[in-house]
Amino acid sequence: MTGIKKVTVFGAAGNFGTPITAALVKAGFNVTIITRIDSASTFPHGIPVIRSEYTVEKLTAALQGQDAVVCAVGPAGISTQVAMLDAAEAAGVKRFIVDDFGWGPDFRSLPEFRPIGVQRRAAWDHAKKLSQVNPDFTYTGISIGNPTDWALKRFPLMGFDVQKHSATIYDEGTEEFTGTTLEGIGQAAVGVLRNPQETANRFVKARSIQTCQNQLLDAFQQVTGESWDVKRRSVKELLESGREKHRAGVGGWVLDLVVYQLFEPGEARCVLASREDSDAELLGIREETAEDVVRKVLDSVAV
Ligand SMILES: NC(=O)c1ccc[n+]([C@@H]2O[C@H](COP(=O)([O-])OP(=O)(O)OC[C@H]3O[C@@H](n4cnc5c(N)ncnc54)[C@H](OP(=O)(O)O)[C@@H]3O)[C@@H](O)[C@H]2O)c1
Repeated sequence: MTGIKKVTVFGAAGNFGTPITAALVKAGFNVTIITRIDSASTFPHGIPVIRSEYTVEKLTAALQGQDAVVCAVGPAGISTQVAMLDAAEAAGVKRFIVDDFGWGPDFRSLPEFRPIGVQRRAAWDHAKKLSQVNPDFTYTGISIGNPTDWALKRFPLMGFDVQKHSATIYDEGTEEFTGTTLEGIGQAAVGVLRNPQETANRFVKARSIQTCQNQLLDAFQQVTGESWDVKRRSVKELLESGREKHRAGVGGWVLDLVVYQLFEPGEARCVLASREDSDAELLGIREETAEDVVRKVLDSVAV
């Protein structure tokens, strides 16, 4: 495959689309953004933006001359990916980074997440099928595990209230998980497009850190120079509350069950890969310490 230069991003103003787009521009790719006709998203100056209906015909026209596509649309847009894939293949795009940015195809999720998994998998299967029919069309999924700096800031249920300097430690606080920071997510997309052969037609495993709640608590206390107020809880309470909300059809169950999966004792469910077994080196993602990640979280809430 010849070098990838022209890259189109869908979902460029999103949680992960933003750092991906910034990293691609910084790495020297020629970036274009495609956004929905009625989108209210705003984008950095200097990047061409195409407003399009998400039909195969319109997207095929919009994607002419592009080498690669990164799809980072939010969960509500996952089903639009099939049209994006068909259009990309028809337009001669060589690499399509499919929307994962989660735990990849092999994750042992709780049964409540299966309908979401089925929808995501439909696009991944479609990408695979297109790559088999047309060898010039290839795909990559980027699995990131827990988006750690973003999630710690956004979800105190993960155990850390960074405004109040208080923590909730689930069970022993020792359950390890892997995560990728926003910096690592941006670098992962750059790394895939710089290594098209090695990353063709598979899911790559990204990671910036492997940690546990106790390590994060130590890091928060050390970096803030304060002793944090610590409460203890069993993560089983989140399994019960999440399942109850799911049964009752009310919101909030996703977060309860995501945090349960992260800290379920003794499961290592959310260790995506060891550093050696991951693709972090290939993709150029640096390993970060708990202090590095905590500093980013504290800096981002201070602004
Ligand atoms: N690992 C994790 O824990 C984790 C956490 C969060 C998200 N994720 C995954 O990461 C991926 C990106 O999520 P995100 O949170 O970055 O997304 P997001 O910020 O919610 O949305 C990104 C963009 O998606 C586009 N979009 C929204 N609704 C759409 C629709 N109905 N049809 C088409 N496009 C739509 C919008 O772009 P325009 O306005 O430009 O059209 C939006 O700016 C998803 O696959 C998500 O499931 C994983």
